[in-house]
Amino acid sequence: MLFGILLLTGCVLDEGRASSGNVVADGDYLPVLPKTPAGWPSIHWPADNPFTPAKAILGRRLFFDKILSRDRSVSCGSCHLPTEGFADPGAALSLGVHGRFAKRNSPTLTNVAFGTSFMSEGGVPTLELQAISPIVSENEMDMTAAEIETRLSIDTLYLRLFRQAYGEGPITFSGVTKALATYERTLLSMNSPYDRWQAGESDALSPSAKRGAAIFLGEKGDCWHCHAPPLFTDRDFHNTGLDFVLTDLGRALVTGRTSDEGSFKTPTLRNIGVTGPYMHDGRFTTLRQVVEHYNAGGKPHPNVSALIRPMGLTDGELNDLVNFLEALTDSTFLTAPRP
Ligand code: HEC
Ligand code: HEC
Repeated sequence: MLFGILLLTGCVLDEGRASSGNVVADGDYLPVLPKTPAGWPSIHWPADNPFTPAKAILGRRLFFDKILSRDRSVSCGSCHLPTEGFADPGAALSLGVHGRFAKRNSPTLTNVAFGTSFMSEGGVPTLELQAISPIVSENEMDMTAAEIETRLSIDTLYLRLFRQAYGEGPITFSGVTKALATYERTLLSMNSPYDRWQAGESDALSPSAKRGAAIFLGEKGDCWHCHAPPLFTDRDFHNTGLDFVLTDLGRALVTGRTSDEGSFKTPTLRNIGVTGPYMHDGRFTTLRQVVEHYNAGGKPHPNVSALIRPMGLTDGELNDLVNFLEALTDSTFLTAPRP
């Protein structure tokens, strides 16, 4: 068992008997305090927003509810789909309200609990603060905090779920962002074929994926320096030589430093087989295109990391690398009970 015991503060009650302090399970969704295996970093639960099942239940409802967008056409889950590893499978840029597009490709929310900064340039320090931005962005949900509070305060389901999560009192926007962040911190993925292979199950990876692992985790590919296991990210920023002429300054938007121009946060590669298209702008549709980019060594931008250099991998080795990346897909995570 990867997950700990149920931490329901009360027993599971039927709707009619719900009261503050007691948690009603939502369908077959019973949120549990996520536990991580040995060797993983610990999850930082903010002092003012510790895990509770009631907040996770509320957060999940909000995450998949189009009520958070002006024309009720999109939810968080429209751009972050569970079956796609909480990323958007569609076009490079995701569709928001009024037929407008988000400015970047929707990233996966896999293991976002371990994040130390959010967005590709890393300008947002917490998930609570991050949740504000899609809601108020005119290209994504186009709402205001006050409008969200008004909408939710006339909805009997939310009146009940907020009371369970926070007790008596008015529905607040901060209660919305805390609940969303709580739910997001439960989206843990750590049961891929790669993990089973690491745990000693030698058949969990195909021979090709094992050869790919040797490239990825060895000096030949050097991928692990930035995509460091077990998270498959160093949570840092690098220029991978995607462009010589930049259209997105990336990390430099936050730091203002020329040396950070064209650097982006290293994304996790967990569930990478289903989270395409790839890179901050979704320019690559297949993993094969991504590994070909690395194999070529990238464009000669002055900030390109020294780790990005022509690798001279053969066609077969590129296939092996792709097969290894596919082995980071956690089917239990993608099919876990959700709405
Ligand atoms: C219209 C599509 C769209 C909607 C709706 C949307 N997102 Fe996103 N989300 C994105 C895009 C695009 C990014 C990447 C932004 C960037 O890097 O600049 C993103 C980034 C994020 C991140 C940062 C991930 C990371 O690793 O840095 C989180 C967390 C997140 N979204 C959660 C949410 C939540 C919660 C909601 C609902 C309140 C939501 N999103 C609604 C498209 C969307
Ligand atoms: C110098 C650090 C670094 C090295 C080395 C590196 N990567 Fe990356 N990788 C990144 C960064 C940063 C991004 C995000 C770039 C962007 O969004 O524009 C990325 C993106 C990716 C993506 C797309 C992720 C997504 O969600 O869109 C894949 C797949 C990937 N890398 C695989 C690899 C493989 C395979 C190797 C080894 C051949 C490798 N990387 C080596 C830093 C690195």
